[in-house]
Amino acid sequence: MSGSGSRWDGTARFYDLLAHGAEKRWEPAKRGLFARMRPDERILFAALGTGLDIVFFPPGRDIAAIDISPRMLERARPRVEAYPGRIEARCMDIGALDFPDQSFDQVFTSCTFCSVPDPMAGLAELKRVMKPGATLGMFEHTGSHLFPFNLLLEMCNPICRHIGPEMNRDTVANVRGAGFVIEAVIPHFLDVVKTIHARKPEGMA
Ligand SMILES: C[S@@+](CC[C@H](N)C(=O)[O-])C[C@H]1O[C@@H](n2cnc3c(N)ncnc32)[C@H](O)[C@@H]1O
Repeated sequence: MSGSGSRWDGTARFYDLLAHGAEKRWEPAKRGLFARMRPDERILFAALGTGLDIVFFPPGRDIAAIDISPRMLERARPRVEAYPGRIEARCMDIGALDFPDQSFDQVFTSCTFCSVPDPMAGLAELKRVMKPGATLGMFEHTGSHLFPFNLLLEMCNPICRHIGPEMNRDTVANVRGAGFVIEAVIPHFLDVVKTIHARKPEGMA
């Protein structure tokens, strides 16, 4: 397993405890994002983690979900089974997705690109498996443009990176750099996290 997967395996047993407070604050933003999951579309969700996002999914969707960590996915299993729809959860590296080109109409991420070691490789893979015109909906740690929060995030980063996420990646720039069209960026909580709506250009294979 890659270093990324084993690191997250180590975090799995206390992840829900660490994330509990943030999940409560983030609930409205996450619900708003996932409300865009459409019933008749092929949806990819990356990365599932312990499945804390699942309660915010609208019911009745058919979702392929991936995560690199078997331990995180093990913890997600009861939430996957309780979901009133279909989630097929598979262990997979976002940088090497086992899906054919142009498989999905919609892709969602949630605190994913703060966590993958090579965000540009992950974004390139998402783009490959998306149909032309498919949408990318993200809820991501991005760093803040506000002082002193940007400084605080810089200071926290070495500790956070050790247990999992990097708090100050410029994911908006990365998404644009990967060739997506950014349609909207909605800042939350002093700009520390953002909802990003993007699209794979129509003419792109
Ligand atoms: C901060 S957690 C977010 C999980 C969940 N979306 C949530 O909000 O609770 C980040 C997740 O990304 C996964 N991850 C890290 N690197 C990855 C990679 N290269 N491919 C797929 N998943 C990865 C980790 O295993 C972890 O479950």
